[in-house]
Amino acid sequence: MALVASGSARGEQTIHNDQLGLRVDTNDEWIRSRTGIRERCICGPQQSLADLSHQAGDAALTMAGWSPESVDLVLLATSTPDDLFGTAPKVQALLGARQAVAFDLTAACSGFLFALVTAAQFLRTGAMRRVLVIGADQLSRWVDWDDRRTCVLFGDAAGAVALEVTTPAQDGLLGFALRSDGRRGDCLNLSQHQERQALVAGTSHQVGGFAPISMNGQEVYKFAVREVPAILHHLLQSTETAADCLDWLLLHQANQRILDAVADRFNLPHAKVLSNLAHYGNTSAATIPLMLDEAVRDGRIQPGHRIASSGFGAGLSWGAALFRWQGPS
Ligand code: ACO
Repeated sequence: MALVASGSARGEQTIHNDQLGLRVDTNDEWIRSRTGIRERCICGPQQSLADLSHQAGDAALTMAGWSPESVDLVLLATSTPDDLFGTAPKVQALLGARQAVAFDLTAACSGFLFALVTAAQFLRTGAMRRVLVIGADQLSRWVDWDDRRTCVLFGDAAGAVALEVTTPAQDGLLGFALRSDGRRGDCLNLSQHQERQALVAGTSHQVGGFAPISMNGQEVYKFAVREVPAILHHLLQSTETAADCLDWLLLHQANQRILDAVADRFNLPHAKVLSNLAHYGNTSAATIPLMLDEAVRDGRIQPGHRIASSGFGAGLSWGAALFRWQGPS
């Protein structure tokens, strides 16, 4: 498969750290020094997850020069759908991708990489020719805005890539590894709340609805700085790639200290580590394609560049992929 185009979109309301300090007991200095985040973008009253996804997908289609009808699959990685039955079909309709099958895939902050690898399987078998992979999350609706330990971290965005079938010799997905460990899932959750209501004659049912995000930040931090270098090391070994041959390291944007720690483990100059979390915070499944699109559009990422990427988050889930950016023809 070849990565030929990208697109992105973000929530239309920007909230600076100082503004959050007016709501909870926090301040710009604490947030910046512990995370690197300065501001985040939150969806406005008229913006839905489907809207963000549509905007990002549309931008990728335009860059690729594809008609929406030529897309075979719209794969939406999200943990915050507008509709629990799936939001991808709505996005497919908004895009006008009438020939495409569309479905959601959930793997929290690892979702985009999991979706990229899933899409590659359809392309490699020849079952499909053109795929739009979108990573999108609107965590602002599931954050407890009075919990300073989590509310400062997240924002809303979407990022998309257009993938096309290619010959095996030109395949741009050079390697990947994906992992899950549900035994450690309790340190980061967006779970069904436990409310039950009486039904009939001694029976009851659970009431639908979710509790806000809960996170043991220190445990997730330790998990990230242990597992991300380990899976990247495995990826580089299995693809016989030396770290200094990488053009870019593109990690899930959760905390600048995590990005710096991983770069140091591979002796990579920090200039090779893409980072935009100062402006967006952690946008979950969107962070990797959002960052990719920014660096493609400002010319940092050029056709032929080799990019090692790693995502990690709730599940627990994590993964890594080595890919080559092709760009539009
Ligand atoms: N402002 C001021 N003080 C705060 C804030 C805040 N926003 N948040 C926490 N504190 C306080 C705590 O209450 C604590 O005070 P205490 O010592 O009096 O109890 C103190 O600061 C230190 O808290 P820690 O939790 O130890 O702070 P830490 O340095 O670990 O930073 C952070 C917290 C930023 C959350 C960090 O642990 C982290 O980045 N973890 C990883 C998160 C992550 O990567 N998530 C990715 C997955 S997300 C997904 O999958 C959806």
